[in-house]
Amino acid sequence: MEFKKVVGTRRSIRYYQPWRPVDEAKIQKVLEAARLQSQHGNAQLIRKAVVVIRDETPEQTWNALVEALYNQPAAAQAPVHVYWTIDMSGWENLRDELLKLIEAGALTSSYGWSEQFVDDVVMKTPDFNVLAGDMRFAEWLSAIETGLAIGSALLAAVDEGLGTGMLTGKRDRIRELLGMPEHATPAQVQLLGYPAEDREAGGQRPRPDFEQLYFRGTWGTSFERDPEVVRELTEAGAIQEAAPLHWRKAEVRALAGLFGLPE
Ligand SMILES: Cc1cc2nc3c(=O)[nH]c(=O)nc-3n(C[C@H](O)[C@H](O)[C@H](O)COP(=O)(O)O)c2cc1C
Repeated sequence: MEFKKVVGTRRSIRYYQPWRPVDEAKIQKVLEAARLQSQHGNAQLIRKAVVVIRDETPEQTWNALVEALYNQPAAAQAPVHVYWTIDMSGWENLRDELLKLIEAGALTSSYGWSEQFVDDVVMKTPDFNVLAGDMRFAEWLSAIETGLAIGSALLAAVDEGLGTGMLTGKRDRIRELLGMPEHATPAQVQLLGYPAEDREAGGQRPRPDFEQLYFRGTWGTSFERDPEVVRELTEAGAIQEAAPLHWRKAEVRALAGLFGLPE
């Protein structure tokens, strides 16, 4: 799918076809997209994921995971859960990973990069070597990195024709159920499956005005939105009809009937 269409078509899907498994190749493509996302200092081993496929998971474990996701119906319906996780031990490889970037020709000597610079400057600067500073900053940055990876994974899932969405769960319980070490914290859970609701899922969900979000030059000075660009993006499928589409209520009623849920 064309990039702009992927961006515009993504929705948090909350109704899945529980009977339809997800092709293995599609799961892999979602993970590959996340792996290629950018990361601070090339510290590669921070964002990890445990993929749980319902059809190969003992029923008791699956049910316990659904419970850990606050029994949200979408968790029970989607046949694949990706438990995106922040592994703080990944920061320990920062020095080696930076040296790899020098070797790869990404960080160049023209800009002053060398092994000595890494040791004398970078590793001593807490804004960069986060383990040398405030751990709250390290955790915050790790969350950004993981979020970047998840963002790519969501778009890759849409590109593969899947429904996808994020769920929040009980972190300690998930860690326990999936056998994660203490230094790994489950961040958020990505669902994968084929949507039972229409791909439009009732229309594009509300967003604040562009000008409220983005500033030009100084904080508070709106970055003005060009209607011509909006028109172009609408034509390309990035900006789609806003929710609720007029048939959404009827769709939700039908889905409630299908899954035996209250309307
Ligand atoms: C980190 C994160 C956690 C979320 N957790 C949940 C959740 O537990 N349950 C849920 O129904 N939606 C969850 N969502 C989905 C948001 O509610 C959703 O993004 C919002 O409704 C906007 O809709 P859209 O994603 O379709 O544009 C989560 C989204 C993110 C990014």
